Amino acid sequence: MNIFADSTNFIFPVFVYDDETIYRNSLHLKYLNDSKVFIKDIPDFIQGLMDFSINNILVFGVPAKRNSLGTAAFEKKGVTQRSIKKIKELFGKKINVISDVCVCQYNLSGHCGIYTHNYKKNNNNQSNLNRNKLDNDETLKILGKITLSLAESGTDFIAPSSMMDGQVFYLKRILKDNNYDTVKIMSYSSKHNSCLYSPFRNNNFYQSVSIDKSYYQNSYHNLHESLREVTLDINEGADWVMIKPSFWYMDIIKALKSFIKKPLVVQNVSGEYALIKSASVNNWIDGNEWAILSLLSLKRAGADKIISYFIVSLLKKYYENK
Ligand code: PBG
Ligand code: ZN
Repeated sequence: MNIFADSTNFIFPVFVYDDETIYRNSLHLKYLNDSKVFIKDIPDFIQGLMDFSINNILVFGVPAKRNSLGTAAFEKKGVTQRSIKKIKELFGKKINVISDVCVCQYNLSGHCGIYTHNYKKNNNNQSNLNRNKLDNDETLKILGKITLSLAESGTDFIAPSSMMDGQVFYLKRILKDNNYDTVKIMSYSSKHNSCLYSPFRNNNFYQSVSIDKSYYQNSYHNLHESLREVTLDINEGADWVMIKPSFWYMDIIKALKSFIKKPLVVQNVSGEYALIKSASVNNWIDGNEWAILSLLSLKRAGADKIISYFIVSLLKKYYENK
């Protein structure tokens, strides 16, 4: 099996930066760098991806400033909104733009939703325990605003990633009510609470590496919860469903593939990339060979499409040696 001969197997994650200093500082971290672009450089960057036949991208915005409610996520002229407009203006249907829908990159807490109580007060009081939790339904309203702003900008897909209950149903209805029925949904259906996200958070989220999202992300102790979440999203109207992380979740990929009919997307996350990349930088391993083997195994387990930071460098190698 040669998965590189067909680039529709892949979705490449792209971080668009509004602020040049934040962009340059993040490059010093020396990981995920293939995926980073300063907003002014978008035309060349996307052309570069198309040169390697990459035709699906997953866009995450990194705003210049954050605030408590994360309002930069739904500004008409927000970083993601402007990026999508530019990409669509230049490349039209040649590229499938999938846009992340969440607030964690735009707010101060780094959580994937909002609080409606002052959660810092009376933190130890048992009766206030629920005040420490995100407000699911108020968060949906914000996700709705983000969705509309992205649809207006011309996105092909929205990718709700906050793991709020009912998000696919709610956002699908909002799209329909506003005559954006053509915008599809790739849902982060089964996002497992995981330490494997830490390089991503380190890169994009201000000091939120050890943040606890276990009460709204899936438990890795509960296979049936993973299957149920995906089934729910399909019933709510998701066009593509997604599961992450990847390497240590292949039993779940295989189980899902055996009974769902919608395309199954698997995200090979930042920690999985970091493991191979760091060993490769030390010359302990041949990083390309390891990455190819890993992505192949995801395909074998049942992934229809793979989201991975490795894709550009691997496709580059593939085309050089062709
Ligand atoms: C949250 C989000 C996460 C990632 C992307 N968006 C997980 C998290 O921080 O909980 C992780 C992606 C990666 O590690 O590559 N909306
Ligand atoms: Zn989030």
